[in-house]
Amino acid sequence: VELEAFVRGLPKAELHLHIEGSLEPELMFALARRNGVALPYDSVEAVRAAYAFSNLQDFLDIYYAGAGVLQTRQDFHDLAMAYFDRAAADGVRHAEIMFDPQTHTDRGVPFAEVIEGLLSAMAEAQARHGLSSALIMSFLRHLSQDAAFATLAMAEPWLDRIAAVGLDSSEVGHPPSKFAEVFAAAAAKGLRRVAHAGEEGPPAYVHEALDLLDVDRIDHGNRALEDAGLVARLVEQGMTLTVCPLSNHKLCVVGDLADHPLDRMLALGLKATVNSDDPAYFGGYVADNYLAVAKARSLSRADLVQLARNSFAGSFLPTDAIARHL
Ligand code: HPA
Ligand code: ZN
Repeated sequence: VELEAFVRGLPKAELHLHIEGSLEPELMFALARRNGVALPYDSVEAVRAAYAFSNLQDFLDIYYAGAGVLQTRQDFHDLAMAYFDRAAADGVRHAEIMFDPQTHTDRGVPFAEVIEGLLSAMAEAQARHGLSSALIMSFLRHLSQDAAFATLAMAEPWLDRIAAVGLDSSEVGHPPSKFAEVFAAAAAKGLRRVAHAGEEGPPAYVHEALDLLDVDRIDHGNRALEDAGLVARLVEQGMTLTVCPLSNHKLCVVGDLADHPLDRMLALGLKATVNSDDPAYFGGYVADNYLAVAKARSLSRADLVQLARNSFAGSFLPTDAIARHL
């Protein structure tokens, strides 16, 4: 079997996907027209040309601006449905999708519009593709912990539909310790916890995510490799890392995909997974991520199978459902 067919046919879970980061330029223009929003670009090509980033913040500035076209429940439904259709074609059987409520509520879009649009697409993905999914509500770490508490309060009527809280946006200068109390409050409400750590931030931020946020997974985690004691700790705990190869390359977390540490992570015994992060901005969905890193690092089919197994094992699916996927 050709590598591409093998990768697409491999059943997998996607665990690190920002739904706002799946907004393709074509849909951005369609929603801008539908909602009467002006865009600072005059063509899809001009939008794509703007996607040349030298770090995380360069990307975030464009990503938050793009999200401005999302206004109604139907917009969020259409956004998520486009993602699920692509994910299903990539062999994704289960997706745990992050959303950033503050990006929308701070512009006056009601929380209910955001989450109801996502939930209706999740139901349709299950019916259309047999693709199960879960929601991760992410707090923007460049905002205050009080703002995160306000978001958690807004989510109260939907807590049984939210699997976990997450932590994203500008990492350096906004350590996990800033959010210790709101993560404890989320845990007390029965929510799981994930956090971006060690993408641009130091290994100390990964230690903090473990010690102070009691996370179930680390999103990215690349810089953990700088600290041998931390690696030992992550291996010992069986901690899942949601690694995003094309994102790492586009945001200059790795200089060249040929230097990506994914196979080193596996060799160290880390539970690494492959994910797309913000596929519309980074040039590919999850199968593209598997393929790109497989080629750049000469991964074996056994490595690819291990990565896919890690994705189900590290998911928030119930144990019996995980067993059925493995
Ligand atoms: N890092 C931090 N915040 C984000 C990312 C990321 O890779 N993608 C979307 N928000
Ligand atoms: Zn991310």
